[in-house]
Amino acid sequence: MTAAPPDEPVTALEMADARIPARCRGALADHPQITAWAEQITRAGRPGPAGAPGISEGGSLLIVGPTGTGKTHQAYGAVRALLARGVRLRWEATTSADLHARLRPRTGQDTERELQTLARCPLLLLDDLGAAKASEWTEELTYRLINHRYEHLLPTLITTNLPTAELRTALGDRVASRLAEMTERVILTGPDRRRHTRT
Ligand SMILES: Nc1ncnc2c1ncn2[C@@H]1O[C@H](COP(=O)(O)OP(=O)(O)OP(=O)(O)O)[C@@H](O)[C@H]1O
Ligand SMILES: [Mg+2]
Repeated sequence: MTAAPPDEPVTALEMADARIPARCRGALADHPQITAWAEQITRAGRPGPAGAPGISEGGSLLIVGPTGTGKTHQAYGAVRALLARGVRLRWEATTSADLHARLRPRTGQDTERELQTLARCPLLLLDDLGAAKASEWTEELTYRLINHRYEHLLPTLITTNLPTAELRTALGDRVASRLAEMTERVILTGPDRRRHTRT
């Protein structure tokens, strides 16, 4: 009878992969601006209790491009890049459509608290900004979320299919103006990768 192998410690990256959608598990951020962002955030991090750098104030990215160019892949790759560098971080991810669904007022749910959790978490991935149907309520919600992250310099990874002018129409001037100041734009181009790969 062979002895069972000793338990390997579960790494932060393995724990994160359990929360990452299956299609983006193992995503590598190979875009130079995203690698540079991960470097900058890692360097800026304050050492945590175990000596590992933690995430603190830092830049945000707006990853822009047409459907299937790899925006979501790069965004999850960016989260993984930080974890792979040993950065200890709490992170949340949502699409803007899911955000609206999660925060719609309903009895028995403290949706204000959920908004605060997303607004305050050290790293937020907001996928597909501007893709969900807008209303006065969604505009206000997006404003509060983005404004909190803007004011507190909290690193935020945002993806969108919309070019700048359309983003402004979809989100309103106040959000678009803050995004212009707080984010570096990463433009992805090329064909729809989904039409070239089948998995
Ligand atoms: N750098 C990459 N290497 C390998 N596969 C990739 C890479 N980037 C993207 N893909 C794959 O291409 C497909 C489309 O990528 P992704 O979902 O990130 O696109 P997207 O720009 O977010 O699209 P949409 O705007 O429709 O949300 C996915 O199957 C993804 O796994
Ligand atoms: Mg996407």
